[in-house]
Amino acid sequence: QQGKLWFGTAADIPQTNDAVEQFDTAYLSILTNPNIFGEMTPANVMKFMYVEPEQNVFNFTGGDYFLNLAEKSGAKVRCHNLVWATQISPFLTAQNWTADSLTAVMENHIKTTIKHFSDRCYSWDVINEALNGDGTFSSSIWYDTIGPDYFYLAYKFAMEAVRDTGKDIKLYYNDYGIESLGNKTTALLGLVKHLQHRHIQIDGIGFESHFEVGGTPSTADQLASMKSFLAMGLDVAQTELDVRFTGPPFYSAAGQAQQARDYYSSVAACMQAGRRCIGTTVWDFDDKYSWVPGAFAGQGGADIYNATLERKPAYYAIADAIQGN
Ligand code: G3I
Repeated sequence: QQGKLWFGTAADIPQTNDAVEQFDTAYLSILTNPNIFGEMTPANVMKFMYVEPEQNVFNFTGGDYFLNLAEKSGAKVRCHNLVWATQISPFLTAQNWTADSLTAVMENHIKTTIKHFSDRCYSWDVINEALNGDGTFSSSIWYDTIGPDYFYLAYKFAMEAVRDTGKDIKLYYNDYGIESLGNKTTALLGLVKHLQHRHIQIDGIGFESHFEVGGTPSTADQLASMKSFLAMGLDVAQTELDVRFTGPPFYSAAGQAQQARDYYSSVAACMQAGRRCIGTTVWDFDDKYSWVPGAFAGQGGADIYNATLERKPAYYAIADAIQGN
């Protein structure tokens, strides 16, 4: 991707070598084609429930395998994620924590995980999706037990872990609903300012960018939000871009043409933001393995390849946006 670190994709692949060898080879050959993707994000295997299934029992198998696969094709990896409301381990919900005891769990998880993967991770999404649309903190075991301090504590622990590695590992906050200016974006700017006042490391903001066909914010609106974070000295990245149909048909010519325009306007915003919008990652490149139908009944067709792994107009629209056509 011109002037960028990458164009990338998320992938939800099986978690062991054996399973992957029997996995979809047509899919894998696109995923690992360095002419298409320069970055991969693990859709699941680095999340809390997989990495620390029982308290202080760590399992890095899936994450290590994912990194091996990415490194073989020269792709960088945005590691995802350390602290989130969702996909946490049963031990976390099985007992009553105090703020102190849960903070110790969070510190151990963050530090052990960052240390293990070290700078094989280009970056970590330290906290994922902490805010409601109105800018208040959303409910999670972390917020509900520790209170608002969990936010700065997570970045403080991550910063200490990065320092201990002696490597350059970027720390990100990742969310949706911040791709335009509004209450949520304003609240996040305030949290970033708070971290910076305390001299706590935060390097970038991930704009998830899960959009609907015909409902994508304009390039100008996306650019305005990016610029508000760039002005604070941060990098930004589009981390989970997809554009779903809220109902069939998913493959009409007119629908796909609109979807292509939607993808174009997002990637164009990153291009116009300059080098500090470091790149764009799509959240799964294909309608075969997309997360969308599982999460939104009746919705789909969100990706740049169809379910038989053929390129859609959106694929070519992204290429045009990258080349400035
Ligand atoms: O691993 C089990 C498998 O053993 C079981 O047979 C199967 C049956 O349902 O479920 C499998 O777990 C699924 C898991 O993905 C792994 O494939 C879960 O049900 C499913 O809920 C989970 O969905 C993931 C979702 O996060 C969870 O909230 C999606 O793959 C993943 O793409 C999605 O990613 C999130 C980002 O992390 C944050 N931003 C939003 C994005 C989309 O929701």
